[in-house]
Parts: sequence; structure tokens; C-alpha cells
Amino acid sequence: MVVVGICTHLGCSPSSKFKEGADEGMAADWLGGFICPCHGSTFDFAGRVFKSKPAPDNLPVPPHYYIADGRILIGEDKKGA
Ligand code: FES
Repeated sequence: MVVVGICTHLGCSPSSKFKEGADEGMAADWLGGFICPCHGSTFDFAGRVFKSKPAPDNLPVPPHYYIADGRILIGEDKKGA
């Protein structure tokens, strides 16, 4: 997963809540993902924000590409952008 770890609401850093269910203080139907501690926005494992949350958008995917198997360059795409 390559996303910018800054909430699209007001810029806090979402925390991992990878376990399903209520083990980490989430609702029983939680499937795992990330939660922003500031105002409660929740994101799935792809960085997509759940509806009816303060964050207006998904976590953005920055430019990136694979240099080789097991190596990734983040901050540029293959066109050099
Ligand atoms: S800054 Fe993340 S929900 Fe407000």
C-alpha cells in the first residue's frame, strides 16, 4: 500500500487498527484499516474513507513506481513527475 498518511480532514495522522472486530476498541463489525484519532475518520486497507466521516477524501496516493522487485521509489513516477 502506498498512500500519504495524513488525514484529508485537518491533517492528523491516522493510526493502524488492523485487527477485525472490537479487539482494538472499534465496533464489532470493523474489518480493519486505519482511524484518525482527531475526529474519528476511518479508512479501509486501501486508504478509502468510510462514508459519513469528517474526512472529505481518501488518503492520496503519491507518485511512485517499482524500481525492481522489492524496491519502490516514492515521490516520482516513471515520467519523472
Ligand atoms: S483530522 Fe482526521 S478526522 Fe479530522
